[in-house]
Order: sequence, then structure tokens, then C-alpha cells
Amino acid sequence: MQPQPRPRPQTPKPNGQDHQHPVLAAISRRRSIRDYTAAEVTEEALREIVRAGTWAPSGINNQPWRFVLIRDEQTRKQLAELTKYRRIVLSAPALIAVFLDRDAMYDQVKDHQAAGACLQNMLLAAEALGLGAVWLGQILQNKEQVRQLLEVEQKHDLMAVVALGHPAPGEQRAQRKPLEEFILKSI
Ligand SMILES: Cc1cc2nc3c(=O)[nH]c(=O)nc-3n(C[C@H](O)[C@H](O)[C@H](O)COP(=O)(O)O)c2cc1C
Repeated sequence: MQPQPRPRPQTPKPNGQDHQHPVLAAISRRRSIRDYTAAEVTEEALREIVRAGTWAPSGINNQPWRFVLIRDEQTRKQLAELTKYRRIVLSAPALIAVFLDRDAMYDQVKDHQAAGACLQNMLLAAEALGLGAVWLGQILQNKEQVRQLLEVEQKHDLMAVVALGHPAPGEQRAQRKPLEEFILKSI
């Protein structure tokens, strides 16, 4: 039997808002969401988001990421006191702390790049599930206190906390500069 030709992807629209390509659509639709309704986020949804994170690429496929899934109210309140984005953390019904396991690491730069890919996958998964999310980096100022609060081993290095919830109406959405400002040259 002749191999069937693979369906050709349609050419993306120049403004990047092409909703015919589900991945491109999710990438351009995703924005940081910092206000949430009181509706709960299920454990299942958190696991789905973490699963997407683990499908990120990593150097030599070392998969150095580790996660703490947080829905407990007392823990969320304590975490809120460790960042100037207290208001966001208090509003979020769920949080995921993302760590790198130093024992699994092989290269500082590449492992940190992998953590970034993992985090972006998680944000896109949240978007796909209809949830709002924001990557919280400022809390790294108190990463040691976060680690102790969450009672994880010292070998785990905090990369970020992702706040999650069902988006509240009226969120302000960030824009992007024109593409031409980023392209140094096309040779
Ligand atoms: C490394 C990193 C750290 C961030 N830290 C914070 C943070 O501490 N608080 C916050 O509100 N947003 C934080 N953000 C979200 C950015 O502010 C946001 O991605 C940016 O303004 C662009 O908006 P968008 O995500 O809606 O496109 C962080 C994002 C990254 C990638």
C-alpha cells in the first residue's frame, strides 16, 4: 500500500493568532492570569499540568524537575507571606512549586533551560484546561523558606511557583512588541 501523504499544516497567519493550529493558538492565547474565582482546582487537573511539564525536553533526557502540588489552605496562606505577590497567592486556589533535583542535574545552564521549558509547558496545559496561571519568580528571594515550609529535601532547588485558578473576569492582558523588533537579521 502506498504511504498516505501527511496532511499539510496550513500556513500560519502573519499575526500569530492562528486558531487553526491548536498549539499556536494556545501559545498566543496564553497570558499570565493573576485573579481567580473561588472555584477549586482539582488534584486531577494539577496532575495533568505536571504531566505536561514532564513532557518538556531536557538535556540527555535527565528530567530533573520535581513538583509539590499545593491546595491546602494553611500552606497557601504561609506561602503568601514569602512573596510580595501575596495577593496573587492568596487568590489562587492551587499552586505548584517547581524544583530542580540537584542529584539529577548535569549542567547548570541546560538544566535551568529545561526547567523553563517545563514551566512553559505547564502554563500551556493550564490554558488548555481553561485555567489561568502565572509563573511566580519573585518568591525565589525566599526559596530556602519555601523549601522548608513544603518540607522537601535540601537537594531540591526552587525554580518557580505557579499560581493557578479559574480566571476571574476583567483580567488585564499583556501585549507584545512587533516581531520586527526582535529579529536581528534574516540571512
Ligand atoms: C522567570 C519569570 C518570573 C516571573 N515572575 C513573576 C512574579 O514574580 N510575579 C508576577 O506577577 N509575574 C511574574 N512573571 C510573569 C511575567 O510578568 C509575565 O510573563 C510577563 O509580564 C508577560 O505577560 P504574559 O505572561 O501575560 O504574556 C514571571 C515570568 C517569568 C518568565
